[in-house]
Amino acid sequence: MASQHSQSSQLALEQFTQPLRTPGPQGLLGALNATQPVELQARITSAEIFTGKHTTFWAYQATQDQQSWLNPIFKVQRGQLFTANFTNQLPEATTIHWHGLHLDWHMDGHPRWAVEPGASFHYQFPVNNRGATYWYHPHAHHRTAWQTYHGLASCFIVEDEDTRRLAQSLDLTFGTTDLPLILQDRRFDESGQLLYPIDQESQDMGVEGDTILVNLTPRPVLEVSTRIYRLRILNGSNARIYRLALQRARDETLLPYWLIGTDGGLLEQPHVATEVFLSPGERVELLLDFSPFALNEEIFLISLPFDPMHNEMAMGSMEESHTMQHLGDEGHAMPHHHMGAPGLPGGQQFPLLRLVIKQQEKVLSAAPSQLSVIQPIPLQSATTRQIEISVASGGENQPMRWLINGHSYELDEYPIEVKKGTTEIWQIHNNEQSMPHPMHLHGFQFQVIDRSGSPEQIQRLAVDSMGRTSTDLGWKDTVLVWPGETVRIATQFAHPFPADQVYMFHCHILEHEDTGMMLNYRIS
Ligand code: C2O
Ligand code: CU
Ligand code: CU
Repeated sequence: MASQHSQSSQLALEQFTQPLRTPGPQGLLGALNATQPVELQARITSAEIFTGKHTTFWAYQATQDQQSWLNPIFKVQRGQLFTANFTNQLPEATTIHWHGLHLDWHMDGHPRWAVEPGASFHYQFPVNNRGATYWYHPHAHHRTAWQTYHGLASCFIVEDEDTRRLAQSLDLTFGTTDLPLILQDRRFDESGQLLYPIDQESQDMGVEGDTILVNLTPRPVLEVSTRIYRLRILNGSNARIYRLALQRARDETLLPYWLIGTDGGLLEQPHVATEVFLSPGERVELLLDFSPFALNEEIFLISLPFDPMHNEMAMGSMEESHTMQHLGDEGHAMPHHHMGAPGLPGGQQFPLLRLVIKQQEKVLSAAPSQLSVIQPIPLQSATTRQIEISVASGGENQPMRWLINGHSYELDEYPIEVKKGTTEIWQIHNNEQSMPHPMHLHGFQFQVIDRSGSPEQIQRLAVDSMGRTSTDLGWKDTVLVWPGETVRIATQFAHPFPADQVYMFHCHILEHEDTGMMLNYRIS
């Protein structure tokens, strides 16, 4: 498939010189084997994101045995107990949501269980999920977008028999050949401080940045050897969708890779792909094989151009002028008017990570043919529920509102009641006039049954007669629903927790979630 570099990405390629931050034994994004209770704080701190500049940001700080981590990558074994004694050192209330995990809702970070500044919360739960790359981030009422944007997010990796077998057969080592890649787009001022757009248009459409960070590294490079690598890619952006591909720098050919996992763990079989869409909240796991390449060959992980399908009317003038807020400005009346650098409009092509072959290694390995077993959810006795995405266009001085079944989020309303132990099919329909919305279900992993009414760029990727794409083949907690599409998902609402459970279902464009594109559902 042919592709073109845009002028700006062409220029940027040589600038990919900052070593990718990889999980070390401690420090920023270090790996933390959380077999023991962890002391965890949310606090204001700073880090050198751009060389020589100190960026103030919000982070989770963990301590254990005199070691310290910032935004630790938690590693746990399926079946173990996870304990975090959490203290909020931020100037505002927060909660921690363990995205993708099957938890009693008291532990799920529901905004109802807000942790006030200075207060503590004891997060403790058995980890019952499949081996996979989950993640954690705040879920404070109306403040999820702001808090996550300013740094509070990292991975929560669960290992089980299947993932251990894979690591063993491919001789993978976490931190070197098995790597998390956290994709986040942000905006910074000249001194390297975060800027958050608060103007109406940015909030309506979701905030996109003009700087892409991978593991909090701008324009990263990673030196690799001629062997297989496992990448666990998390889209931790507030609103940006990526169309991930691998491109050989020399001739710009797209290289195939194996898709091996989704939100809820390994697929049954590796699936060869040259592109996958990844929307906010979603994860994919890929195997890349660099063994055919020569020394010094360069390969880029890129995002391909696509039609972002933004509603023209809602997009307004698209002018690159935003009203920005610095950290510390909240509550003050003086937002900065900032003529943004012509950044990266959604759907544009840009590089994410430069990979350089630096070492020969004689490892002969191929992806195992069987990765795991996925039992299809039985649908015979399932009931179907309609989920309709719509927009209330606001009007003069009235903000636009994205709605689910006509609802805007209320802390104490439960528009959906589910019977414990039942299986439901949610038929999610997104309006033709809408924009793509990544819909996320708390509490349970689900299966995508089918897609219909998909736009051409998705139809093209269908891998079966159900219109599903490769990323629909595994367990999911977040699914992107394009304008005009109907996506049916199946969930078994069986759980071992006592009494009623209240979870949320929402759009993972965080500005949409905060402005009400969310609802509570109760299981009783
Ligand atoms: Cu990752 Cu309710 O969200
Ligand atoms: Cu979640
Ligand atoms: Cu949305």
